[in-house]
Amino acid sequence: MTKPPLEAIPSFVAALGDYEPLARERMTEGAWAYISGGAGDEWTLRENIAAFARLPLRQRVLRDLSGATTRVSLLGMDLTAPILLAPVAFQKLAHPDGELATVIAAGALDTAMVASTQASTPIEDIAAHARAPLWFQLYIQPDRDFTVDLVRRAEAAGYRALVVTVDAPVNGLRNREQRAGFALPDGVSAVNLHGMRMLPPPSPEMLLFGAPLLENAPAWADIEWLRGLTRLPILLKGITDPEDARRAIAAGMDGIIVSNHGGRSLDGLPATIELLPGIVEAVAAAVPVLLDGGIRRGSDILRALAFGASAVLIGRPYVYGLAAAGAPGVAHVIRILRAELELAMALSGFRDIASIDRSALAAQGRGITP
Ligand code: FNR
Ligand code: LAC
Repeated sequence: MTKPPLEAIPSFVAALGDYEPLARERMTEGAWAYISGGAGDEWTLRENIAAFARLPLRQRVLRDLSGATTRVSLLGMDLTAPILLAPVAFQKLAHPDGELATVIAAGALDTAMVASTQASTPIEDIAAHARAPLWFQLYIQPDRDFTVDLVRRAEAAGYRALVVTVDAPVNGLRNREQRAGFALPDGVSAVNLHGMRMLPPPSPEMLLFGAPLLENAPAWADIEWLRGLTRLPILLKGITDPEDARRAIAAGMDGIIVSNHGGRSLDGLPATIELLPGIVEAVAAAVPVLLDGGIRRGSDILRALAFGASAVLIGRPYVYGLAAAGAPGVAHVIRILRAELELAMALSGFRDIASIDRSALAAQGRGITP
């Protein structure tokens, strides 16, 4: 089904989840499988959302809420709220305006966006439309010279941080995509990688070990190499283990993003909200820890902040807004989430982000350990 994008946002859209069916009927079956799907049996994909629902909140009443704010400072950048747009590849699959619609919406709502290496729009064009902090998500390419070029292009275009995704040296087991026979349609491609020496992607039937892609997969030495290459802050995205978090800090990283790639990489990983406390403990406030995966409500953000996250990123929800209604849809998703975060803070008695701690959670939710 592929209806045209909506020209006006229907009044029944009240929450992020309301965009999902609107998005689905505007995408091909293949694009829907790619965007909404996860790896394998999609257990991790479901867990990311289910685990939030297992964390009951606590309400404190009659606290002083005057001067309440969601503002935060992150890596020297002032953000209106601790919400960023996660890197999502090929946004032209969702809407013809793709990443440009997203960056315009992010600017209108003063929200930071992370642009993907696999964006379907040149990163310079995205940057030209940015009105809020813009970060670049880097996949270290088998062609390291091309990787250096990507970093230099991002620096020159004004990107303010690098997000190096480390949890997907190869794609996860994308059974849903396979069953739907997903392939990128004409006109949608990783334009920022054009001209690069490509290695053959391993097909699902092909054995991975020994394949060129894996032989050239990035390792810790490449992270250290990258650290010496740029002065931009670097965050590692896809850290789910406390040992790896410590190693990232030792390698001079400026931040950690606890992420299981939205359940798209290793199926069987726990929900990110369950992994967060162990990582926060290991990091011991040395650098900011961010989280993504399954954030669908402002109260989910409250839960993540309660466990020590500095900010969260959202992936699919804004892409559904994009598919349904273009830039206004993305803007509306951000707006709803911010309003829900304010409401959750007001009703649980927090007037700023810094004061949110585990006391936001009901006692039975607080004892969670990874
Ligand atoms: C992603 N994600 C992702 N991550 C990344 O580092 N680079 C990328 O190019 C992509 N591409 C991508 C495409 C699609 C369609 C999805 C759904 C996700 C992962 C993304 O940044 C983020 O980790 C998850 O989407 C967060 O989970 P939620 O919010 O979708 O539940
Ligand atoms: C994905 C890759 C592009 O999740 O990160 O599809």
